[in-house]
Amino acid sequence: MRKVNPFKPTAGAEPPVLAGRDAVLDDFEIGLEEGVGAPGRLMRITGPRGSGKTVLLTELGDIARQRGWRVVDVTAAEHLPQLICRRLEKTDSVDYSVELDLMVVKAKAQKEEPHRTEDIYEALERVAGKLTEKGKGLLVTIDEIQDASVEDVREIAVAIQHLIRERRNIAFVFAGLTAGVMNLLGEDGPTFLRRAYPKELDTIPVGEVEAALRATFEKNGVRIDEGALATAADSTAGYAYLIQLVGYNIWRAAQVRGGGEFDAISAEDVEKGVAVARREFERTVLETAIAHLPKTAMEYLVAMSEDVLASSTGEIASRLGVPASSLSTARKLLVSRQVIEPTARGYVGFSIPFMREYLIENREALLARYGVEG
Ligand SMILES: Nc1ncnc2c1ncn2[C@@H]1O[C@H](COP(=O)(O)OP(=O)(O)O)[C@@H](O)[C@H]1O
Ligand SMILES: [Mg+2]
Repeated sequence: MRKVNPFKPTAGAEPPVLAGRDAVLDDFEIGLEEGVGAPGRLMRITGPRGSGKTVLLTELGDIARQRGWRVVDVTAAEHLPQLICRRLEKTDSVDYSVELDLMVVKAKAQKEEPHRTEDIYEALERVAGKLTEKGKGLLVTIDEIQDASVEDVREIAVAIQHLIRERRNIAFVFAGLTAGVMNLLGEDGPTFLRRAYPKELDTIPVGEVEAALRATFEKNGVRIDEGALATAADSTAGYAYLIQLVGYNIWRAAQVRGGGEFDAISAEDVEKGVAVARREFERTVLETAIAHLPKTAMEYLVAMSEDVLASSTGEIASRLGVPASSLSTARKLLVSRQVIEPTARGYVGFSIPFMREYLIENREALLARYGVEG
């Protein structure tokens, strides 16, 4: 029988094995155990696209559900507080922790008055209050929070802070792109949220990537030797999406070679799979990130690619032969599109792995798009 490819190179899709997240999962679980005021109950998860934020929110939700907590997951949109209120209405009076006859639950939910006039605080209090009495709690997660308005986020934060003061079992985890979240929490952002336990999803250590790849192959009855595994793991640069993309394409290569039948991964499968994954990554991630940039922004990136580590913004300006102040619009645009990020005052670095290599390899073609010679 044809083996089903277990890897999941799709945004938000739960990976077969979660690499490098034990510490966050533990901190969260301890937070639920420790009770009101535990730091693990208030978390902010930041990282570039494809670093595994959405998946991590799902995992944290699973942990909460296993403990009988109710979970409300939302993605930032307009009128976010109202959206959360609506979700709380829907989950009203459904108790996941005990087996209830579905019909009874439905009948009860229908009878209950809708809480149309509630504000976010009242809605959260109604649900979290009941759950707290039962020794359970409520987890609220917000994904892509960089797209929310400061006012909405502040309103939600104030409500949650009140509930914590009132000793309700409530946990709040929000995730978003690093620069966007920093913006949201900066200057006049809610102080309460700035104190949220920060978890930046940067590179996953290569050993953990190896372990996750090995476990995924072996669980599915496929052997892979140490050398092949090391090459595969290295090629992911510890980037969550690449773990799935590389694994998926190695599996594919083995499948094609064996005409559907295979029980081991060869060095050649790894070589082919990594090459395909890399091309796919360039097309879907790198090219998408820099498509339709204005000329100055593209020149800025190409100038940055000369540096192995971070680039000095002053140095970039002198490479381009212009005053530093004339580049601030381009820099801001690149930061807001999560192509680059400030690494220290006056320094920037690439936010996405392999961007530098891509710019170096394609320098001439990229600049030619703007009629500039590389
Ligand atoms: N810890 C992890 N280990 C292995 N693969 C992961 C991990 N986290 C996420 N992935 C995979 O990475 C990809 C992107 O995950 P996602 O949560 O959508 O990222 P983000 O929300 O940060 O853009 C998905 O294919 C997912 O299966
Ligand atoms: Mg996401």
